[in-house]
Amino acid sequence: MKRRKFLQNASLTGIGVAVGASVLAKNTAKDISSEIVSEATNSPTTFPIVIATWDVPNATNKAGQVLDEGKSALDAIEQGCMAEEADASNQSVGLGGLPDRDGNVTLDACIMNKDGNYGSVVYIQNIVHAISIARKVMEETPHVILAGKGAEKFAVSQGFKRVNLLTEASKKRWEKWKVTSEYKPIINIENHDTIGMLAIDKNGDISGGCTTSGLAFKMAGRVGDSPIIGSGLFIDNKIGGATATGLGEEVLKTVGSFLIVELMRQGRTPQEACEEAILRIVTSNPNFKNFQVGYIALNKKGETGYYSIHERFSTSIYKDGKNENFKSDFYNKT
Ligand code: GLY
Repeated sequence: MKRRKFLQNASLTGIGVAVGASVLAKNTAKDISSEIVSEATNSPTTFPIVIATWDVPNATNKAGQVLDEGKSALDAIEQGCMAEEADASNQSVGLGGLPDRDGNVTLDACIMNKDGNYGSVVYIQNIVHAISIARKVMEETPHVILAGKGAEKFAVSQGFKRVNLLTEASKKRWEKWKVTSEYKPIINIENHDTIGMLAIDKNGDISGGCTTSGLAFKMAGRVGDSPIIGSGLFIDNKIGGATATGLGEEVLKTVGSFLIVELMRQGRTPQEACEEAILRIVTSNPNFKNFQVGYIALNKKGETGYYSIHERFSTSIYKDGKNENFKSDFYNKT
């Protein structure tokens, strides 16, 4: 029986629930973190490596260059995400992001380093580089999350300039949407959505980041999975990392990125872990045909995984000096 089919059956018969419970039962599960670490030490040629959601060659190239210069995975993540945030032609991240129903562009972002530290901004407006503010929250404040006006005020205090994020192109899309005001999550929004990125540097240390303008035409005040630790992003430097794109509500309900890292801790490959996390969503929500979620994962050995509910998700990988995009396998083949 194919592995995916087995997992599906297991989940439907309740075995999946038992597996889910065991994910968190650290004492009863085999913890392979020490094996992964020692194997990784034996294969340094795989580093550095960057993996990101969607077809974002500029972002992974930038992050890869930073790593090739010998800088940290954290620096690479910030610089890579910044490349997308500054690009007004994509309408799901940073400048030019699609607004909420009231016409306000609001950004969510988070970053997590090799030491398990994490910083995040939610519902921040008027600042292009949300990922950099998230890093400042992690490094310069006693907190991990800043929201809305407070996050914006903090950004300005750190020297960031206020910018109107609503471009003419995004304003036009919003005005067109207002004609019917029908809200429905858009699957594979222009084949590009939240940018999640994971990297391993030359020292073998892992960091990750995630940046987005969230769902187009969301309710004012809505916050998605991307800035929430364990949902949109999770890193454990002994094991690996995972990050998400797509309908944040579904990722939040299954704490997807944490789940993937815990599955890898128990011995699953990044690919198996991503598939299991998608299975959790589709087996618990019969409406899955109407929304997309995609995951990417990276383990300490530099192995990658990626999987989504629907087709047309892809991942960009920078490795061995090559910067390539790969189509993801997906669940819904009907
Ligand atoms: N995954 C991005 C969001 O739902 O906001």
